[in-house]
Amino acid sequence: MQTRTYEEAYRASIDDPETFWREAAHDIDWFEFPASILDADANGTSRWFRGGKLNTAWLALDRHVQTGRGDNTALIYDSPVIGQILRWTFAELTERVARVAGGLENLGVTQGDRVIVYMPMIPEAVIAMLACARIGAVHSVVFGGFAAPELALRIDDAKPDVVLSASCGIEFQTVIPYKPLLDEAIDLAASKPAHTVIVRRPQLEAALIEGRDLDWAAWEAASEPVPCVEVDAWDPLYILYTSGTTGRPKGVVRDNGGHAVALNYSMDAIYGCDAGDVYWAASDVGWVVGHSYIVYGPLIKGCTTVLYEGKPVRTPDAGAIWRVIAEHGVKTFFVAPTAFRAVKKEDPDSTLKRRYDISCLDYLFVAGERLDPPTYEWLKQTVHTPVIDHWWQTETGWSICANMAGVADADERETRPGSPSFPVPGYDLRILDDDGNELGPDEEGNVVVKGPLPPGTLPTVWGDHQRYVEAYWSRYPGFYLTGDGGYRDADGYVYIMGRVDDVMNVAGHRLSTGELEEVVAAHPAVAECAVVGIADEDRGQVPLGLVLLKDGVNADPAEVESELVQMVRRRVGAFANFKQALVVPRLPKTRSGKILRQVIRRIADGQPSTTRRSLRRSRPRCANAA
Ligand code: COA
Ligand code: AMP
Repeated sequence: MQTRTYEEAYRASIDDPETFWREAAHDIDWFEFPASILDADANGTSRWFRGGKLNTAWLALDRHVQTGRGDNTALIYDSPVIGQILRWTFAELTERVARVAGGLENLGVTQGDRVIVYMPMIPEAVIAMLACARIGAVHSVVFGGFAAPELALRIDDAKPDVVLSASCGIEFQTVIPYKPLLDEAIDLAASKPAHTVIVRRPQLEAALIEGRDLDWAAWEAASEPVPCVEVDAWDPLYILYTSGTTGRPKGVVRDNGGHAVALNYSMDAIYGCDAGDVYWAASDVGWVVGHSYIVYGPLIKGCTTVLYEGKPVRTPDAGAIWRVIAEHGVKTFFVAPTAFRAVKKEDPDSTLKRRYDISCLDYLFVAGERLDPPTYEWLKQTVHTPVIDHWWQTETGWSICANMAGVADADERETRPGSPSFPVPGYDLRILDDDGNELGPDEEGNVVVKGPLPPGTLPTVWGDHQRYVEAYWSRYPGFYLTGDGGYRDADGYVYIMGRVDDVMNVAGHRLSTGELEEVVAAHPAVAECAVVGIADEDRGQVPLGLVLLKDGVNADPAEVESELVQMVRRRVGAFANFKQALVVPRLPKTRSGKILRQVIRRIADGQPSTTRRSLRRSRPRCANAA
């Protein structure tokens, strides 16, 4: 628990960021403490902790062994889809990670080299990430739901020497082969990794290509453990690709020093967790939540982390979340609202919850998409704990707004439906109109953060610094553009209303319209298309494709529509939920020919097609606030 109130912490971080983050930096162990706290790199980007030497895997593992917590449980793997629960202590996990790191070194991987991890939610995914961190290699985890062409794009951008993967993932009862997708991706990619290492799960065989592919079990067994290398605070820990506004994903870079300090701070200050507590983020290692709060945050803090290979429903039922919380004594639980919408649909009165004692749970955090007020109200009635919506992005790596559970006055601060509450320390949040003027209470505009961003946030885009500048800093110089629209109410509560760019959020998964449009436009009968994210009761948003056929093409619209659905599944992945394509006679455009996607979206959602600027919101009702 922090000694400061929220207001004291926030003010200190904004008024004197260097002192604030110097103090936070003292809470992690450095091999060499940073020479300076806030500085600028050769690109002119603000950077934290210049000259600091550390190792993130050492902070997450070895340090706990050395300080006598080696026998504490570090990782619980709970997989209802294969009916297994396994546990590793900090000492056991350190040993496996050190061995896998040795295996990577045997394959020639050294500091700064990239390694792609394309895996389902199995322990080897966590081990792979930490093994890379141990030797200073840069991991790039690609969500297992991505199809081969998307994986190929990421291989070509990151140019990994090695890809770590598995024979299959398991979605509900379906075994999803991964190896054929990996083989196809390597065929498609111009940059060929020298080796792949494959976890061959008993559920599916995977044929290995001689000379290139290795069997994980044999490889790990034959490797010798290696120690942690010393890396610089500014050295990259990982690249995580995220959807931008074009079809080409952006490689968000995370450095070692700022990341470790920010996550360590957040575990206590935001999530109210300390060493020994059990933390469960029900996300996927392929997303930022998985990176920050399945792997690094809890382990750096010395918490037990839960890796759950299952779904909130049908594995085996809508009581799965309550079962995991009760069985493992989860103190802080973090999930996307879409998961609870699925639970609510199958078990509206939460009868299954009565089977489990979840009194261990202190906090329920949600993020990934807006927590819609009906789901918030349902959760408030269902659980005994505070329901805390918090807002963040792949780019920031930790939350921008939250009702912090670990500040001294946490009990006095109410949450409000539809709001992730207040900016967390380090984020100087502003709402600007299109001309850059700051807006007042209840006026909706672009949500931006005045630079410098706090530690842990992205310092660049992998291999394309210009893209970083253009995407995030050029619209309002000096201010980071979040891409989200929103407003503050008169009491300072922030409301995030959705993306103002061409990014959509499908069941907590981020996708760009451009990415999907590229696939749709590739259909030989399609002359022009627009893909927009429209409101969906279960998944928040789902994509809708509108297409104009080429003149003279004599195609059956229904056939084209179903071909488009299949194309998106094969090229992007089923998780995109692209199930609706419609052949239309024309698309709404500006006079200069630009397709009006926002207008299409509003019409599809049954909203007036007003522009945001003229939208003035009244404060939502807060009668049911916590
Ligand atoms: N690997 C392969 N395929 C995957 C996948 C993965 N990791 N994740 C999803 N898919 C597939 C599903 O099998 C499904 O395929 P289908 O169309 O053949 O049935 C398709 O993608 C759609 O998936 P999804 O939208 O996730 O629906 P679902 O019915 O499988 O599950 C939920 C619904 C609500 C349970 C699920 O979306 C969920 O848990 N969402 C939370 C997401 C999350 O945690 N995001 C991180 C934000 S913090
Ligand atoms: P990602 O980078 O995949 O984590 O997606 C980030 C985007 O998800 C944000 O820019 C928001 O649009 C949305 N998002 C995440 N958390 C929230 C939240 N708590 N409330 C509203 N939107 C959110």
